[in-house]
Amino acid sequence: MINREIDKLFPSGSIGVVGGGQLGRMFVFEAKRMGYHVVVLDPKPNSPAGQVADEQIVAGFDEIWAYRELARKTDIITFEFEHINVNLLATIEKEGCKVIPSSKTLEVIQNKYIQKSMLRKMGVKIPEFSKVNSLDDLKKEFECLSQQAILKSCTNGYDGKGNYMIKNEDDLEKAYQLLGEQEVFVEELIDFIMEVSIVVVKNNSGISFYPVAENEHHDSILIKSLIPASLPDEVINKIHAVSEKIIEEFDDFGIYCIEFFIDNDYEVLVNEIAPRPHNSGHYTIEGCITSQFEQLVRVICGMPIGSTKLRMPCAMYNILGNQGVDGEYEVSGLDALLTIPDCHFHLYGKPNTNYLKKIGHITVFGETVVAADDKARVALQSISITQK
Ligand SMILES: Nc1ncnc2c1ncn2[C@@H]1O[C@H](COP(=O)(O)OP(=O)(O)OP(=O)(O)O)[C@@H](O)[C@H]1O
Ligand SMILES: [Mg+2]
Repeated sequence: MINREIDKLFPSGSIGVVGGGQLGRMFVFEAKRMGYHVVVLDPKPNSPAGQVADEQIVAGFDEIWAYRELARKTDIITFEFEHINVNLLATIEKEGCKVIPSSKTLEVIQNKYIQKSMLRKMGVKIPEFSKVNSLDDLKKEFECLSQQAILKSCTNGYDGKGNYMIKNEDDLEKAYQLLGEQEVFVEELIDFIMEVSIVVVKNNSGISFYPVAENEHHDSILIKSLIPASLPDEVINKIHAVSEKIIEEFDDFGIYCIEFFIDNDYEVLVNEIAPRPHNSGHYTIEGCITSQFEQLVRVICGMPIGSTKLRMPCAMYNILGNQGVDGEYEVSGLDALLTIPDCHFHLYGKPNTNYLKKIGHITVFGETVVAADDKARVALQSISITQK
């Protein structure tokens, strides 16, 4: 039973966003389109979200005055990034500020070890994992995990940063040397046939699912998502059932993304949960009736959930910095890309890039997922990122 109430907030009410990255930016576009006032908190001046918001408070995520200032200026607060100070978020909640999702939900999710322990306790299928406090611990656990494992930092990981694949015994020392100063755990390496994710919407009248996305990662970075995922209905049903169980456990509202591994037997294992819109849900901007970002505006403002229906099969490719670029960059070939029908281009306003740093994405429609994927590959090849 959800024991939270969301008051209706009508335009031009004011929304605060902790975090100024691309997810915040795409959220701000939607909130502004709907007539809301938006204030962003981020340490980097002129952040991607700050550029398009009404105002940015430039301060670190560890400064209580900044959270209080954001609370003073806005009617409701959300976040676009997990790695913020959850205690300060809890402080402003106690002082009367509404935060969705709550600091309690964020506290569980932002520490992957606590998150996975919750899932294990609930009986949700996940890769085996255990906490390691020393190199000896790691060596012992590695033996138990059939000598295939991944070492993960409990907090602050994103885009594979904070993860180290251990392919054989020789990697153990290197992995521990790199990550062992932080709180870490080791996890069984899953030999998956597919990675998928689902964006879930939860408000006081119920739960809705977006179509499942099929994701491809290189070096732990999301390269592309294809929608809908090519999975039999019974697997989709399993994904829905597990997702509903997990989201109900939080007893909270918001937009969540759950990442899964599908193994050889079509067994569904949860990788991780994000308490916010997600990169693999970017396709919803043009691909669905209501985008994941508009949906978050709706949820936190106490409005009804919008349709999550897919308009057309689509492919989303991230635009990443390439090996030759480090610092300011230029994008060329946009004129060629824009000759491709049904191709939507997004650039996040980041001043700098480097190898594999996300700076934008494209979403392309097709009659089939394969057609959308083929078109998207051509579209991506038509642009190039070069050093300025
Ligand atoms: N146990 C595992 N077995 C196999 N592959 C894994 C495992 N854990 C992670 N990976 C691979 O590494 C990728 C990134 O891992 P994870 O989701 O833990 O990192 P992250 O940095 O939190 O990711 P992001 O923030 O980009 O979602 C996964 O999508 C998957 O491709
Ligand atoms: Mg992930």
